Amino acid sequence: MLHTLWKNLELDADSGAMSWEQFHESAKTGHYDMALPNQVVLDEMANLYESLPYKNAVPIALPSTLAPITGKLSDIMQRRATPRECRPVPLDLIQLRTLLHLAYGETRDNKDNPYAPRPFRTVPSGGALYPLELYFHNGGQVEGLAAGLYHYSPTLNAVHLLKPGSHATHIAAGLVEFQSHLADNLSLVIFITGMFQRSIFKYRNKGYRFTLFEAGHVAQNLNLAATGLGLGVINIGGFYDRAIDELLGIDGINHSILYMTGICKGDAA
Ligand SMILES: Cc1cc2nc3c(=O)[nH]c(=O)nc-3n(C[C@H](O)[C@H](O)[C@H](O)COP(=O)(O)O)c2cc1C
Repeated sequence: MLHTLWKNLELDADSGAMSWEQFHESAKTGHYDMALPNQVVLDEMANLYESLPYKNAVPIALPSTLAPITGKLSDIMQRRATPRECRPVPLDLIQLRTLLHLAYGETRDNKDNPYAPRPFRTVPSGGALYPLELYFHNGGQVEGLAAGLYHYSPTLNAVHLLKPGSHATHIAAGLVEFQSHLADNLSLVIFITGMFQRSIFKYRNKGYRFTLFEAGHVAQNLNLAATGLGLGVINIGGFYDRAIDELLGIDGINHSILYMTGICKGDAA
């Protein structure tokens, strides 16, 4: 049934009416668009999770420390490159925490701010609404953490085990064929997903663009953090969205995969 619904939503890219143009036009801010009153925004925020709670999964606390990132930022930016060869390498919990925290972790309390009451994160966010969620797959390379598919909670500095065991076969099937081998060669696969309602209730269609911008901020933080830790990092857009959404247990419409990042030992590392 969900598949039928997806098909109904699809715009035919071959019909001559390119959907991206329609979308881009619809996502522009106009001079006469009314901003929502602040109280309406606050009421809606109160209805939306700032991070999914996964109440049936026991949170597994992450360390509170960060692994040292050595070198100048400008050198790390110069060094970042997609490795030609990736090999899995053991990671420890502090490296895992460092990657997740620098990607999307909380940095500053924001309780006294009446306009944007969510705690701030390592990335900027339109309206401080934080529409993204992060998941990751540990095929067994993270020391001290059982293999499995996990959700990262920035709110708790913890992870939730959603599906135990290795899901490398499912990930391989979710990658476009030329790179399905990556599933076995990565230490960690990080999934960046969007919960669109958190942004579009306020910014309408432009909220979708904001959600994608934010995924880019998170991915770049991951790229720089991984490079700074001496790890290889690969950005992955070539995946079958529905297969990945199914792996993550999300509906693909209100909440969908946007981008993936792989961590490994690269040829430069
Ligand atoms: C949005 C996006 C999607 C990408 N998807 C893939 C991918 O699916 N597989 C892959 O091997 N590289 C992927 N890349 C990496 C690019 O191929 C790579 O960044 C580009 O060739 C430039 O090389 P560099 O990263 O070494 O600077 C992607 C990069 C971006 C920004």
